[in-house]
Amino acid sequence: MPACCLRGRVYSRIQGGAPLCGAVPMERKRKEEVDMTNILLEKKGYIAVATINRPKALNALNSEVLSDLDELVATVKADDEIRALVITGSGEKAFVAGADIGEMSTLTKEGGTAFGKHGNDVFRRIETLPIPTIAAVNGFALGGGCELSMSCDIRLCADTAVFGQPETGLGITPGFGGTQRLARLVGMGMAKQLVYSALNIKADEAYRIGLVNAVYPQAELMENVLKLANKIAKNAPIAVRNCKKAINDGISLPIEKAVEVEEKLFGDCFETHDQKEGMACFLSREKPKPKAVFTNN
Ligand code: CAA
Repeated sequence: MPACCLRGRVYSRIQGGAPLCGAVPMERKRKEEVDMTNILLEKKGYIAVATINRPKALNALNSEVLSDLDELVATVKADDEIRALVITGSGEKAFVAGADIGEMSTLTKEGGTAFGKHGNDVFRRIETLPIPTIAAVNGFALGGGCELSMSCDIRLCADTAVFGQPETGLGITPGFGGTQRLARLVGMGMAKQLVYSALNIKADEAYRIGLVNAVYPQAELMENVLKLANKIAKNAPIAVRNCKKAINDGISLPIEKAVEVEEKLFGDCFETHDQKEGMACFLSREKPKPKAVFTNN
């Protein structure tokens, strides 16, 4: 049986693109549970892999794809079994080539503001998903694509990936968080250089400036992403989620308030089964020590 079918349901709503290797249409309890036209969602054990699938436009984000991303967040949030989410793009060329320029081309000021809010709201929901998220950047990550990757916790990319915020060349600013998250990730000076110049950078430069955590040969990207996702999924899920919350909530606070956020989340772990399991295994006198099995409780 392929690895992706070993555990639980496989989510997949496939339209306009080839199914992923081994993808099986999801048996849905209720039809309205998952309704995504442009995203393929697969479960591989504890990991959900979402593939943005709009190949004719290099996976560009129009309003429909943004709504699908919203649906993705709701679906993943509702499934207690999922311990990490991977987001990638279909095909070998693009992760996401940006917000949809055709759709944006006729927007008014009000329409532009609303489109930006739609993207920002969805990306903020991705950023604040309780579980860890990894962007597997398999090609162009421009404009909204770079911004989507930055709303994930971790970015790993293929050696063919290209990043950039080309918006000023189109007469606009980045609109899905690029002016904010890029500066937070790579520092103000480098963020300003990239945004003002609209220049693209290749994977090795993205790694050098700290925009991505690692670069892999394209054919090995997903294998390495899943290796990391599975490593994360083996750890105590509540502790991992509390770490994410502590880092996300604490980063914008003064340090004395930030450590209070950590104290609370640290304390909360001590009422979990997983803390008892993890520490009992470590303290066991058996040789070799038993491996902790975490239950998400
Ligand atoms: N929006 C809409 N369609 C897009 C698109 C986008 N962002 N990017 C690519 N496409 C479409 C192209 O129009 C083309 O469609 P047709 O075949 O129907 O003509 C198809 O995808 C393939 O693209 P190309 O022929 O251009 O492919 P290429 O290999 O020659 O170039 C590319 C690839 C360098 C990524 C180029 O497509 C490109 O520059 N795309 C636009 C990138 C961009 O500017 N992104 C930022 C958008 S603004 C934004 O994202 C604002 C924000 O912050 C919210």
